[in-house]
Amino acid sequence: MKLTTREKSALIMEGIVTVVLLLLLNLSVIVLLNEMIQTNPGLQDGIFIIKRSVFIGPAHYQLWSWENIFIVLLAIFDAGVVYWRLIRRYRQMQLRHIIDELHYIANGHFDHRIPFTLKGDTQRVITSVNSLVDSVIASMDEERRIEKSKDELITNVSHDLRTPLTSIIGYLGLVEDKQYHSQDELLKYTNTAYNKAKQMKSLVDDLFVYTKMRNTDTPLSIATLDVGQMLEQLAASFELEASQKGMDVNIDVPDQPMKIEADGEKLGRVFNNLITNALKYGKDGKHIYLRAHQENDDEVVVSVENDGAKIPKASLDQVFERFYRVEGSRSKATGGTGLGLAIAQSIITRHGGYIYVTSDDQITRFIIHLPIKNGTQLKDDHREALPNAKN
Ligand SMILES: Nc1ncnc2c1ncn2[C@@H]1O[C@H](COP(=O)(O)OP(=O)(O)O)[C@@H](O)[C@H]1O
Ligand SMILES: [Mg+2]
Repeated sequence: MKLTTREKSALIMEGIVTVVLLLLLNLSVIVLLNEMIQTNPGLQDGIFIIKRSVFIGPAHYQLWSWENIFIVLLAIFDAGVVYWRLIRRYRQMQLRHIIDELHYIANGHFDHRIPFTLKGDTQRVITSVNSLVDSVIASMDEERRIEKSKDELITNVSHDLRTPLTSIIGYLGLVEDKQYHSQDELLKYTNTAYNKAKQMKSLVDDLFVYTKMRNTDTPLSIATLDVGQMLEQLAASFELEASQKGMDVNIDVPDQPMKIEADGEKLGRVFNNLITNALKYGKDGKHIYLRAHQENDDEVVVSVENDGAKIPKASLDQVFERFYRVEGSRSKATGGTGLGLAIAQSIITRHGGYIYVTSDDQITRFIIHLPIKNGTQLKDDHREALPNAKN
């Protein structure tokens, strides 16, 4: 910390005034003491005895006269007082500097930090202030990021709602203007409008679940459930759909039950989406595998795998982003919203687990790690291992 010239002269003045005052004080003490000794013979004798006892050596060399000792003591006392006064003043100045810096930061200079270092407790104040500013800035940035991502969400949603809405209005307009030539054509128009309306509904539904899951206030309804059993039920419910596509669903779970504490309905939604995805996007695939096993004592690993076309490397990290769909699957034929995996990730994260995907020419694997006990937070080893891990 650098003192200003004014502060320096204030310190010097303080020093001078203190020294002058002390000298006056010393003088009066010496005069008073002298007076006392002169008028008191008993005291004089006492001092004489003390003086003799402080002689040292055989030469009886007198090291100090008592006056010297007294003056040295006074000088030490004076130095102490001067030091104490100056240091007190200096501390006040430090405090004023810190307050000035705080005002500067509070006036909107948020990239500013208190630049100087001091000793002891004052430094702790500075460090705390600086880290307080850091965390305020971080949370402001976070706030801004959230704001921006909400705007993006609204843009995406309005875009994705407008497209089907435009065709609904178009087709219903044709019906309204009686621009159809047969009953069949009329049915075709209304049917298209109906399908588009359903598409809109599924987007709105997904959006609703997505925002609900992102909101940490939404409670999960936790119960104990058996993962193996759950996967078996799911496999059974998808059997027909799969066989219509020439695919099969295989189960690979341990014989003994695998109980975890989780929200069964929400997890069901996650697996439903993963299996639906495997059916929809696993082009040329023949098999879907649902696997589960226990890892470490406190977690289970569930994976949904399919042997269809692989997800391009560049998309692997992005498939969990809301509205992200690998180029090609944007075609309306598959009719997804691009929210499924974002919802899945939110649900798994809310359970304290994590989800990631690996994909190569042979197999695409969506792998989910879930804690057995509700309230446990699993460490995401997978993401940490990624070179450019992002959340
Ligand atoms: N098993 C899979 N194989 C290949 N691509 C997949 C698979 N699962 C998901 N994807 C890709 O990830 C994208 C995002 O999936 P999702 O979030 O469920 O959205 P949606 O199913 O609505 O398109 C899909 O559009 C698809 O491109
Ligand atoms: Mg999906």
